[in-house]
Amino acid sequence: MEKDQKISLLEWHLEAGAYSLIDEKPQDLTLSDLTSQNIAQNQQDEKNTTNATKAQNTKQVIENCNNLSDLKNLISRIETFNIKKTAKNMVFGSGNENGDIMVIGEAPGSEEDDLGMPFVGAAGKLLDKMLHSIEISRSEVYVTNVLPWRPPANRKPTPSEIEVFLPYLLKHIDLIDPKIVILLGGTAASAILNLEEGITKLRGKWHKFNKIDVMPMYHPAYLLRQPSQKKQAWADLLEIKNKLINLI
Ligand code: URA
Repeated sequence: MEKDQKISLLEWHLEAGAYSLIDEKPQDLTLSDLTSQNIAQNQQDEKNTTNATKAQNTKQVIENCNNLSDLKNLISRIETFNIKKTAKNMVFGSGNENGDIMVIGEAPGSEEDDLGMPFVGAAGKLLDKMLHSIEISRSEVYVTNVLPWRPPANRKPTPSEIEVFLPYLLKHIDLIDPKIVILLGGTAASAILNLEEGITKLRGKWHKFNKIDVMPMYHPAYLLRQPSQKKQAWADLLEIKNKLINLI
């Protein structure tokens, strides 16, 4: 192509509005600012609608789980979660599915991650002793956690992780249908009770969740670090023992 022809071609492109050579997609520069804003708004609305529809679908799928194995399957198919990528195993729950007591902890630790079972490490051994002290064996209770995967380096679950998993946990409670829920530590207590107070204020008092009697207690991992708080835990365990006697 001759130089003159190249120049006239470039001029023609410029006049047609094609003055940017680096965009991947062609841009319609004849649109008014208002039209472009409308398009951007429409795209955002579409995205929001898609997210709302997705959330609605997830809610419906969770709602449709009729048994623990459906719920376990559903959780195992969640793909978009970073903690799943760093964890070795999913820790769903274990114990007596027809028992009166459901225990909810925070999230699996390293031993739990290795074995895919909740409360099997040092905190789990203390939990067993605590239950034993009020004549309840571990095999009588059902145990799970707020999160089913171990957060890296045992960090605390983030508020958004808790928010995403809460509907699954609520369904878990619904399917176990216990008479008493024991919430171990602040994460489980605030996830279920949705109250401002920390575990120090919440522990030792009965709360209601969907008509279920709920007792928040110190987490056994905390009691391992702060053995002087065990007497408070003992008082809470006696409360649970008394409640059970009255319920049966
Ligand atoms: N701590 C928890 O909260 N859950 C477990 O399963 C183990 C330790």
